[in-house]
Amino acid sequence: MSSDNAALRSDKRKLRNQLSGNQQSGHAAGVANQTCRLPEFHNSRRIACYLSNDGEINPHYIIEAAWQARKQVYIPVLSPFQHKLYFAPYAKDSRLETNRFGIPEPVCKPSQWIRPWQLNLMLLPLVAFDESGNRLGMGGGFYDRSLAYLKHRNHHRPRLIGLAHELQRTSSLKINSWDIPLHMIATEERIIRV
Ligand SMILES: Nc1ncnc2c1ncn2[C@@H]1O[C@H](COP(=O)(O)OP(=O)(O)O)[C@@H](O)[C@H]1O
Ligand SMILES: [Mg+2]
Repeated sequence: MSSDNAALRSDKRKLRNQLSGNQQSGHAAGVANQTCRLPEFHNSRRIACYLSNDGEINPHYIIEAAWQARKQVYIPVLSPFQHKLYFAPYAKDSRLETNRFGIPEPVCKPSQWIRPWQLNLMLLPLVAFDESGNRLGMGGGFYDRSLAYLKHRNHHRPRLIGLAHELQRTSSLKINSWDIPLHMIATEERIIRV
């Protein structure tokens, strides 16, 4: 891993963790307002989201809107044997349990998990982004590994939208061969189409 990325990760994580509760909820509402207007949101039946952590944009307004529109929401779960993500159905009454990284996951039978290509839309958390759609994550490479098939196969699903605070933008990210770029980024102010 490059030390540039390590320093950038630490700066951006610090910045987003310094936001006040009011700023966080304002940004969550702004990002939801931008995202829920997109045709990509309206046209998607199966949407992966995440449960926020570490000052990430909280997608709860988007999850509520998806439930109201009778879409199926999924939350990533870590496969116990591979460093890849599966997606578990998530409903209002889902029970949650924390995984080995302390992140909550819906409790359900692995037979109900789906793979990313079965989704129409994926909303991803990120630590930093640039306007070319490059994404810096927490450093585990889980999304990159799970979405690696988008690089080699003629696959178009799912559409990838990063949810971000505007302060997570950087002028240009140093990218690696395995990084999977986003199709769009939604911030509290705007949609960036790549
Ligand atoms: N498709 C992949 N196959 C194997 N390893 C991968 C793949 N994608 C990412 N990784 C591994 O994950 C690690 C973290 O990836 P990185 O892009 O730095 O993290 P993040 O995307 O979370 O910011 C890398 O060091 C890389 O070895
Ligand atoms: Mg990466």
